[in-house]
Amino acid sequence: MNTRPALPSRLPNVGTTIFTVMSRLANEHGALNLAQGFPDFAPPAALLERLTFHLHAGANQYPPMAGVAPLRAAIADKLQRLYGARYDSESEITVTAGATQAIFTAIAACVRPGDEVIVFAPVYDSYIPAVTLAGGRVRVVALAPPQFRPDWGAVAAAINARTRMIIVNTPHNPTGAVWMGADMAELARLTRATDIVLLGDEVYEHIIFSGRHESLARWPELRERSFVVSSFGKTYHITGWKVAYCAAPAGLSAEFRKVHQFNVFTVHHPSQLALADFMTSDPGFADGLAEFYRAKRDFFRRQMEGSRFELLPCDGTYFQMARYDHISDLPDVEFARWLTIEKGVAVIPVSAFMPDGTDHRLIRFCFAKNEATLAAAAERLRAV
Ligand SMILES: Cc1ncc(COP(=O)(O)O)c(C=O)c1O
Repeated sequence: MNTRPALPSRLPNVGTTIFTVMSRLANEHGALNLAQGFPDFAPPAALLERLTFHLHAGANQYPPMAGVAPLRAAIADKLQRLYGARYDSESEITVTAGATQAIFTAIAACVRPGDEVIVFAPVYDSYIPAVTLAGGRVRVVALAPPQFRPDWGAVAAAINARTRMIIVNTPHNPTGAVWMGADMAELARLTRATDIVLLGDEVYEHIIFSGRHESLARWPELRERSFVVSSFGKTYHITGWKVAYCAAPAGLSAEFRKVHQFNVFTVHHPSQLALADFMTSDPGFADGLAEFYRAKRDFFRRQMEGSRFELLPCDGTYFQMARYDHISDLPDVEFARWLTIEKGVAVIPVSAFMPDGTDHRLIRFCFAKNEATLAAAAERLRAV
């Protein structure tokens, strides 16, 4: 076997993500896939019509680096309408190839070797590899079950002179926990006299069942040090389009764009124009998303009545966590494999979100599915 070139991995601890692993297992065993977070229903027809229109109308060459002007204007209007936040669409909003790219770009733009980044665990899987590649180190602050609320004493203890960034994900994947006004006030207090920047992963901003979404954009003091990221994938049932955005004050956006232009340079042109048209013609679609997913959450929870799974509270996102310790004492990864192979329902083991592998014996269901899928899955789960 050819052993050249020898390539010491820059990410020696990273394998294939659990989402890919569980989806593959679901396909192999014909299981219902409540694992990976994507809808099994269609995007709005009017959005698809607009995409087709712009493909045929000639939007097939490079759009501007930061995104097409009408989409950036629609995003700025939305941020103003929902959060009272004024962003200049020219200099403060950048359209990205999914939230994942926005998160990676913000980290690459800010984090230098030796810097520290605070993340909360359970933690979305892309954050830590991005920090590692930038030469930074993460400090992990644990969110304790069953509420998964931030412990501000622990955050204060994790902050030091090397802290460059804090990554905030609300509503939170996988726990469905939602930060409150008091949390934002604490965040403001702890960062006030520092140069810490904040990265808000707000891809589930519209999917919230209790209280209001506390966007970093809503809080003027936080906004001025924040990259605020959201994803059209989650809002318009188009996770495969990979279009998202990052809003940040001009100075931060300028640094963000320096990386963005050499990373992707620009994002799929007809999708951007279609999204701009759809956002302007139907702003109510996103406003109705919370009710749409509340109905799905409640449907799934009702269908699960009588099962031996213990469902945890879910205040936002389209994920429902469950304890299974009345059913099995297997570790969660083994339990998730067993459930997929033997019982025909694929789920995500929550330890996959734990950097140290802590196993709270929790699994995550995705309820962004048709009622027929949810009912069929719940029928299998009730029999476990
Ligand atoms: C918390 C969180 N952040 C970011 C993403 C990635 O979003 P995108 O598909 O737009 O890259 C996801 C997708 O599941 C997510 O759950």
